[in-house]
Amino acid sequence: MIYTKILGTGSYVPSHVVTNTDLEKIVETSDAWIRSRTGIESRRISVDEQTSDLAYEAAIRAIEDAQIDPETIDLLIVATVTADHPFPGVSQMLQRRLNLKPLTAFDINAACTGFVYALNIADKMIMSGAFHRALIIGAETLSKITDFEDRNTCVLFADGAGAMVLGTSEVPQIKQVVTYAKGDLEHLLLMDGYPLKKDLKTPDFKLPFIQMQGAEVFKFASSVLPTVVNELLEKSGHTLEDIDLIVAHQANLRIIDKASRILKFPLEKMYTNIDRYGNTSAASVPLAIDEAIREGKLKKGDLFITVAFGAGLTWGGAIIEY
Ligand SMILES: CC(C)(COP(=O)(O)OP(=O)(O)OC[C@H]1O[C@@H](n2cnc3c(N)ncnc32)[C@H](O)[C@@H]1OP(=O)(O)O)[C@@H](O)C(=O)NCCC(=O)NCCS
Repeated sequence: MIYTKILGTGSYVPSHVVTNTDLEKIVETSDAWIRSRTGIESRRISVDEQTSDLAYEAAIRAIEDAQIDPETIDLLIVATVTADHPFPGVSQMLQRRLNLKPLTAFDINAACTGFVYALNIADKMIMSGAFHRALIIGAETLSKITDFEDRNTCVLFADGAGAMVLGTSEVPQIKQVVTYAKGDLEHLLLMDGYPLKKDLKTPDFKLPFIQMQGAEVFKFASSVLPTVVNELLEKSGHTLEDIDLIVAHQANLRIIDKASRILKFPLEKMYTNIDRYGNTSAASVPLAIDEAIREGKLKKGDLFITVAFGAGLTWGGAIIEY
């Protein structure tokens, strides 16, 4: 039996810091409101780097960390809702920039759950024996699709990238991965696309932005996070006592805090970096995992759970021995 393990991780954020005080000058909000309602203090916004640039930098760091020959990568998946272009995909652009051999490379869209979907797909493709080494990336420039006149969303979303190299293992280090989607609540978090062209005429077209019913999304997120943790524990035969760290999607500190109380799991073992980065959608989980490793909060041999949720609505998670 072939299993999958993490060989290396990397992450990258743009250098431009936008603080809550900066946003006070743009929309009717306050540093105090944003901190207390979300836990966010600042975020990174890309000035001149596209999603592929952020993804490239994160990928380089993950490959270096894995200490592998990039030639051995045979699968590349990029999770994003903010690709540079509708086509080609960021994954195909990276094949060239990273000088990889021709390989299976594709983008996926599962919004903020995108990285966990990429992990699930790569895990199963490696376990099938058809692929041996995968580079999976979550990368976003959400600032492109954020309306900076909408205080409900512009204080939350930001830019970043995280990457992971996966390889084969004789023991199951990625123990369980689950992914779900349920479309009946799709209206809670969405972005309009291109309009259809009735009569073959180009209609007036206003740039679309993220639209969100925050309070409803909050309810969904805070109930799904502990549910996924319990499902992963049950499926893997572990208990919460075995878990060294939970790395949840960084959407709102209150969602993480609520999950910690529901699960009766110590808040200090729930990793957070939302204060510095806000919600970076598909980049959030791999960025948090990479930082947890760099900060020594996740060590070799530790057992951790990651959980993500987002538009779709989508959700999922994984239990992994690092
Ligand atoms: C968006 C979110 C922070 C709002 O916090 P909340 O406590 O639910 O606030 P509400 O939406 O109930 O709004 C409360 C008030 O604050 C106001 N408000 C919203 N954004 C504000 C801002 N940036 N600054 C100041 N006031 C704001 C609202 O207009 C509302 O005012 P009203 O009572 O006069 O109508 C919260 O709902 C949330 O985090 N939801 C989940 C979002 C998420 O995770 N999305 C991505 C999922 S991947």
